[in-house]
Amino acid sequence: EKAGFDHFMLKEIYEQPKAYRDTMLGRVADDGKSVQLSELTMTKDYINSIRKVHIVACGTAYHAGLVGKTVIESIARIPVETDVASEYRYRSPIITPDTLVIVVSQSGETADTLAALREAKRNGARVLAITNVVGSSIAREADDVLVTLAGPEIAVASTKAYTSQLVVFYLLSLYFADTLGTKNTAEVSEILAAMQELPEQVESILEQALVLRDIAESISSHPSLFFIGRGIDYPVALEGSLKLKEISYIHSEAYPAGELKHGTLALIEEGVPVIALVTQEELYEKTLSNIKEVKARGANVLGIGNVGYEEEANKSVDTLFSIPRTLPILTPALSVVPLQLISYYASLALGHDVDKPRNLAKSVTVE
Ligand code: M6R
Repeated sequence: EKAGFDHFMLKEIYEQPKAYRDTMLGRVADDGKSVQLSELTMTKDYINSIRKVHIVACGTAYHAGLVGKTVIESIARIPVETDVASEYRYRSPIITPDTLVIVVSQSGETADTLAALREAKRNGARVLAITNVVGSSIAREADDVLVTLAGPEIAVASTKAYTSQLVVFYLLSLYFADTLGTKNTAEVSEILAAMQELPEQVESILEQALVLRDIAESISSHPSLFFIGRGIDYPVALEGSLKLKEISYIHSEAYPAGELKHGTLALIEEGVPVIALVTQEELYEKTLSNIKEVKARGANVLGIGNVGYEEEANKSVDTLFSIPRTLPILTPALSVVPLQLISYYASLALGHDVDKPRNLAKSVTVE
C-alpha cells in the first residue's frame, strides 16, 4: 500500500502533483477565466456582505491558514485574521454575522478546531470548512465545505493535505474576487494559468530529491537551526520548522527574516544551519541583507530561491536550491516541497520512525 515507497510520508510527498490536479479538477472553467465552486451554497449577496474572515486551525493547517490570510487579502481584499484554534475561543473573538469563519482541518476531527467552529456558529457566523474528509464531524457541522482532494493521508506529518489546502485558498480567493470585482478577468486568468503549471513544477522539484537528501544529512548532525523568510515566505518557514521538529526531533525556530536582529541573532554561531526562503522578488534585497547578517556570524545558509535569480543569491548563500518560477503569491505551493523532503531525509538519517513520530497522533481528538 506504500506503492513502492519506503514510507507513507515519501509517497504522500510524491502524490502532490496529483493532489494539485485533483483539487483543481472541475473547479476551473474550461476557458481558464474563472473558478467554479458549485458545492458552495453561499450567495453573491452573502459574499458581498462579508466584512472580515477568521481562519481557524491547528498545526500545519494553521500554517496553511497563515498563507490563506495573505492570499485572501491580496486577491479578494477582505481583511483576514488567522488564529490557532485552541486560542480562538478563549480570547473573546469579535464574531459578527458578517464574519466568515473558515476552519481548516485535514482530518475534520480535530477537537480544538471543532470547538472553534461551534463557537463561531453560536455567535452567528457562517462557517466554511476546508477538509480532506468528506464525512468528518467538521464537514458535517459547517455551513459550507470545500474538500481538498488529496486522497487519504496516512503519515502523521501532513504534506499533501497542506499543499492542497493552499490550492483551495487560491481557488476560493479567486472565486470571491470574481463577485467582489477585486481582480479583472486577465488577472484571474493569469493566476489560474500559473496554477495549472504547479503540478509539473512540483515534479521537477521531486526530481532533485537526492540533492535535498545530501543537504538533510549534513543538517541532521546539528542540534538546532533556523528558518527565515519575509512576507509569504514566513509561514512557509514556520511549516518547514514544524515538519523538521515533528519527525527529526531537531530543534528549530522560524523567524521573519527582519526580526532576527531584534533578539535571536545571538544564537547564530559558527556553523549553525539557516534555511532562508528568498522567493519574493519585492523583498529580495531586504532578505539578502538579513542573510548577510547571519553569514557574518558564521551561519551556514541554504537559500531556497527562484530559478533565474541564482546569480545574486549565490553571492549571499552557501548553498542554493532553486524552485521553478511562478507568481509570487503561488510560491508557497512550491517552496514547501524541498522543506518536506529535507525533514523526511533528516528523520531517516537519524533512524527515527518517519511515519509515526513519538508523542503524536494523526488526529488529535482531545482539547
Ligand atoms: O487534521 P488536522 O488538519 O485538523 O490536524 C491539525 C494538526 O494536528 C496537524 O496539522 C499536525 O500539526 C500535523 N501532524 C503536522 O504535520
